[in-house]
Amino acid sequence: MTTETRAPAGARAALVREVLGAFGLAAGGTVSGVAYGGRFVDGAGAVFETLDPTTGATLLRVQSAAEADYTAAVEAAQAAFERWRLVPAPRRGEIVRQLGEAFRRRKDDLARLISLDNGKILSEARGEVQEVIDMCDFAVGLSRQLYGRQMHSERPQHRLLEQWHPLGVLGIISAFNFPAAVPGWGWALALVCGDTIVWKPSEQVPLVAIACQQLFHDVTRGTEAEGVFSLVLGDGPGVGERLIADVCIPLVQATGSCRMGQRVAEVVGRRTGRAILELGGNNAVIVLDDADLDLALRAVVFGAVGTAGQRCTSTRRLILQRGIAATFVERLARAYRSVAIGDPLDEATLMGPLISQAAVERYAAALVEIQAQGGQIVSGGTVLSRPGFFVEPTLVRSEPSMPMCAEEVFGPLLHVFVVDALDAAITLNNLVPQGLSSSLFTTNLLAAEQWLGAAGSDCGIANVNVGTSGAEIGGAFGGEKATGGGRQAGSDAWKAYMRRQTCTTNYGRTLPLAQGVRFFDVAADDHD
Ligand code: UN1
Repeated sequence: MTTETRAPAGARAALVREVLGAFGLAAGGTVSGVAYGGRFVDGAGAVFETLDPTTGATLLRVQSAAEADYTAAVEAAQAAFERWRLVPAPRRGEIVRQLGEAFRRRKDDLARLISLDNGKILSEARGEVQEVIDMCDFAVGLSRQLYGRQMHSERPQHRLLEQWHPLGVLGIISAFNFPAAVPGWGWALALVCGDTIVWKPSEQVPLVAIACQQLFHDVTRGTEAEGVFSLVLGDGPGVGERLIADVCIPLVQATGSCRMGQRVAEVVGRRTGRAILELGGNNAVIVLDDADLDLALRAVVFGAVGTAGQRCTSTRRLILQRGIAATFVERLARAYRSVAIGDPLDEATLMGPLISQAAVERYAAALVEIQAQGGQIVSGGTVLSRPGFFVEPTLVRSEPSMPMCAEEVFGPLLHVFVVDALDAAITLNNLVPQGLSSSLFTTNLLAAEQWLGAAGSDCGIANVNVGTSGAEIGGAFGGEKATGGGRQAGSDAWKAYMRRQTCTTNYGRTLPLAQGVRFFDVAADDHD
């Protein structure tokens, strides 16, 4: 039994026209996914259709980047870099401030487009745009704080310091699930750091990328930032492979599956480039007997069902202490049945569709495999028979040793395990290859500190009484192990977007060598 929301077809078609129209996009038309030098150009690559995940219908056709388009886009970004790196960082920050303002002004329009293109519900889509705005605000402040350090030299009359310089063209490879926010983590930092951008968005959400690029153009036109953004829509085997192999791109920020990230690491590593990888998660919530269960319940429903389970940070494993396990599962199953599934543009909806038919098929196949391995479905488990790519959120009673429990299934699928104590729960948390996010629900200070200690969670994100998803931008975002080790967004993640230079200046008239080494003393009579 599920709760469904559905708008009349005619009303929805009108709404879709309005949402697209806000960015000058015409339903059924063809639009370019290639831009550089401050304007869109006609790409020569394949034209592909982009679908509305809510109905399965074609929204628009998009012109992708051919090899020559890609080359021109990188050349433009490089030419822009030569200029942009010389603009003082606070002035670069001023451009980012204006970008943040543009996203603020267009927050609702862009949120509706994200909802249409990606299928996430409006509230979450608004949150996604807010994440871009927050990131811009953060980067503006940072533009006056790209601090290097000064060290005390061991040599007299010497100054030793480090400084940070712009790095070059940043390649952004972004996933469908956060089509605006995660690229924003990259470009907002990159711009204040003096880098320029070549962006390959997921071809599953081209419209959000095109709309963002429009905003970039609106703000940068006629300024010293004109041309800092290049957009190259296309697929992984074409544009993606070209980008990761490109020596003109010193840094690649890539978000996606572990498999994709391994490929990026391999190819970028071979050319000794740098990669910031944010890959798959297999995030667990632990609920102890002493936890505030109302709090934990809300966090688990948001973590597992929110964004239809399509966040890297989505809760995929629930580890319950035995005392509360039965009650908690029962309450959770009840909550799952009350989740309104349907059109993400409808404010009453809590869960929209998956991104594609392929995602639905992967979800269904995973459920079959999980049951074959011994998992028992407690709630949900079906693909909805309606147009679009809808599934039910699913709770499965699983054994941690099942191979499927080590896999990230990108959908609203939650494995439930029962343990006796915190030690066993931590072991399970750390058992999987991925290491992105993790949460413990407890009111016991000792348990919380054990969880946050060196032998606690092994993830990049470890929370107490806060769910696995929905991180703020102020902290560095990323994970360990198969999640890739990269850090993006706040804290000092900016350092990866710059090159560090250590500088020693001698302002004396002798040349003492470090470590007391003596070598070739120039005799006084050599001077004449
Ligand atoms: C992602 O799923 O790739 O913490 C990013 C969160 C969001 C970002 C998710 N702020 O859930």
